[in-house]
Amino acid sequence: MTDSPGPGGRALVPWPRVWKWVLASSLVSVVALTLPESSKACPPRCECSAQLRSVSCQRRRLTNIPEGIPTETRVLDLSKNRLRWIQSGDLAPYPRLEEVDLSENLIATLEPNAFAALQNLKVLKLRGNQLKLVPMGAFAKLGNLTSLDLSENKMVILLDYTFQDMRNLKQLEVGDNDLVYMSHKAFSGLLGLEDLTIERCNLTSISGQTLSYLHSLVTLRLRHLSITALEDQNFRKLSNLRGLDIDHWPYLEYISPLSFQGLDLHWLFITNTNITTVPSNSFKNLMHLTHLNLSYNPITTLDPWAFKDLLRLKELIMVSTGLLTVEPHALGGLRQIRVLNFSSNDLQTLEEGSFHSVNSLETLRVDGNPLLCDCRLLWILQRRKTLNFDGRVPVCAGPVEVQGVSLSAFSDSALFDHFTCQKPKIRNRKMQQNFLCMVNRVLYHLSQVVAREGQPVSFVCRADGDPTPAIIWISPQRRRITAKSSGRIIVLPSGTLEIRYAQLTDSGTYICIATNAGGNDTYFATLTVRGQPLDSASAFFLNRSLYSGEYFNDTNLNSTRVFLKFTLDLTTILVSTAMGCITFLGVVLFCFLLLFVWSRGRGQRRNNFTVEYSFRKSEPTTGSSTGGTRKFNMKMI
Ligand SMILES: *[C@@H]1O[C@H](CO)[C@@H](O)[C@H](O)[C@H]1NC(C)=O
Ligand SMILES: *[C@@H]1O[C@H](CO)[C@@H](O)[C@H](O)[C@H]1NC(C)=O
Ligand SMILES: *[C@@H]1O[C@H](CO)[C@@H](O)[C@H](O)[C@H]1NC(C)=O
Ligand SMILES: *[C@@H]1O[C@H](CO)[C@@H](O)[C@H](O)[C@H]1NC(C)=O
Ligand SMILES: *[C@@H]1O[C@H](CO)[C@@H](O)[C@H](O)[C@H]1NC(C)=O
Ligand SMILES: *[C@@H]1O[C@H](CO)[C@@H](O)[C@H](O)[C@H]1NC(C)=O
Ligand SMILES: *[C@@H]1O[C@H](CO)[C@@H](O)[C@H](O)[C@H]1NC(C)=O
Ligand SMILES: *[C@@H]1O[C@H](CO)[C@@H](O)[C@H](O)[C@H]1NC(C)=O
Ligand SMILES: *[C@@H]1O[C@H](CO)[C@@H](O)[C@H](O)[C@H]1NC(C)=O
Repeated sequence: MTDSPGPGGRALVPWPRVWKWVLASSLVSVVALTLPESSKACPPRCECSAQLRSVSCQRRRLTNIPEGIPTETRVLDLSKNRLRWIQSGDLAPYPRLEEVDLSENLIATLEPNAFAALQNLKVLKLRGNQLKLVPMGAFAKLGNLTSLDLSENKMVILLDYTFQDMRNLKQLEVGDNDLVYMSHKAFSGLLGLEDLTIERCNLTSISGQTLSYLHSLVTLRLRHLSITALEDQNFRKLSNLRGLDIDHWPYLEYISPLSFQGLDLHWLFITNTNITTVPSNSFKNLMHLTHLNLSYNPITTLDPWAFKDLLRLKELIMVSTGLLTVEPHALGGLRQIRVLNFSSNDLQTLEEGSFHSVNSLETLRVDGNPLLCDCRLLWILQRRKTLNFDGRVPVCAGPVEVQGVSLSAFSDSALFDHFTCQKPKIRNRKMQQNFLCMVNRVLYHLSQVVAREGQPVSFVCRADGDPTPAIIWISPQRRRITAKSSGRIIVLPSGTLEIRYAQLTDSGTYICIATNAGGNDTYFATLTVRGQPLDSASAFFLNRSLYSGEYFNDTNLNSTRVFLKFTLDLTTILVSTAMGCITFLGVVLFCFLLLFVWSRGRGQRRNNFTVEYSFRKSEPTTGSSTGGTRKFNMKMI
């Protein structure tokens, strides 16, 4: 209620249809006129309320603080005027002031002790002025202030001890300034500060030391900043911080693993930045985090166990990150996840195997994704009546028969007609022992590949299936080689295994496994690598293979070591074994035959054989030097 005569005056215009209303209004005016004398002491053009002890002089083109403000005033609103400075003593006559609004003036200068007499001041608004520098002592003696708004000014630097006396300040806004630098001790003294917002500044770094004075800080919002990295211990000593909002940092690309060290956050927003992966390592200490928002970051892949340390996470929001792949176990460890928002991404599927357990899930947003309605989405479909889609039921983008059909439109009986997958089938199965192999860029159909050391070898493995099967290979050492492996032995996107420079240790049986959600198919290939004399070409290859061996050694592969779980096809084992045996027996028999023939020719020697043979070099020049003769002694037992 105000004592402004405005509405009552207007209502007194004779207007028959509103008589009742006029009566009521005049009553109000009468009541207002009978209020105590303080209402008389109201500055001209201002509105005063005796009851609230408030004076409002908003938008009055005032150039200085008006005369006639009652001394007992608690709330003073001088916003949207043309005040240029506040001198010490300007507000001294009104020691009862609790709230002063000086927003949107032209104040460029604050004198030291400008507010010193205002011991009861709780709220001070200086938003939208021309302040370039707050001199030391300008806010002196404001021990009871709880809220200070300095946003939308022209401050370039925050000096040491600017807020020194403000023990009780709870809320501070310093956003929308040209802040380039915050001095290390700028926030010293702010022992009670709970909320801090710094936005739209020209800061290029946030110093851990500057923030370290804010022991009581609960919420920190850092928005629209041009900072490129979060460094180690950026937020040290903020042990009471529960919420951190990092929003609109377009240049942010790196988050150090130790940047959140010492924090115990409950919610964390890292949104609208340029980070391309989930900063899993930085989440290590955030055991109590319940809400995580990573929306609008260019994160296209969720790697396995990306959130493994966030044991209590309940809500994960990743809207519009361009997400293409959620790998198996990507959400592993999130036992309590309830809300998952993957709205507006590029996901074709979201498999049950990505979750720790889908049973905790209550709300799922996957609308706005090009979802393929095959067996991988069956788990969503089976839960479509209990799962909350937040009003946006996902729609199939494929296959063609169900394109554009909402998941809620399928009847229970239709589930197994549409949501199906086709098990992978490796092509050329009939020629199982007759696979394709490339040696030195020539394609062979071979049952067993024999390559020389240093030669490139590739095995082709192509499979059909729906969804398109992923191809992995298992090396003779039982290691997994996938399209992500790097080094000398890789798998090309087509599924072909490529060994760039064969080494003796590469010999053995390679297994190709084609997998998709429908199942898997396997295929075997055997490679034998033979050594060769050290001519210049092979020496070159040897050098190269030693070189690439640095990238592809046993320790590198350790993490991808796999123990074959699937049972081998019995016939394949028999065939492989049989072939191996036959080859071995053949060689042994041949040797015995040779020995037999030789012993016949040489006559009777019981126990000792001497095998003599000579070999020729490619360019025989002189008889004695080119041909070498070697002797082997063999004992018959
Ligand atoms: C805070 O206000 C109380 C009265 O409400 C006063 O007694 C006290 O001195 C003030 N404290 C400071 C530091 O100004
Ligand atoms: C701060 O950044 C804005 C926008 O980039 C620029 O216009 C302004 O001049 C900068 N201020 C300072 C003090 O660097
Ligand atoms: C974000 O990162 C990409 C590539 O990593 C780069 O091309 C782009 O310029 C970055 N954007 C900004 C605003 O720095
Ligand atoms: C996540 O962050 C985006 C971008 O800042 C925001 O628009 C959205 O409201 C946030 N979502 C939640 C649930 O906090
Ligand atoms: C999911 O994100 C969309 C887009 O930001 C938002 O409108 C919606 O409220 C969010 N839903 C949940 C449950 O977080
Ligand atoms: C292959 O499929 C079988 C069931 O068909 C499964 O038990 C096995 O784990 C799968 N193997 C791989 C490597 O995916
Ligand atoms: C192989 O490496 C050794 C030492 O690194 C070098 O002396 C030799 O010339 C190399 N051989 C070839 C064929 O590159
Ligand atoms: C294998 O690679 C690792 C890391 O690249 C390296 O530390 C190690 O010394 C290498 N081991 C061998 C035997 O080359
Ligand atoms: C290699 O794997 C074993 C068990 O699989 C593990 O104990 C060891 O720490 C791993 N070594 C490295 C270097 O990753």
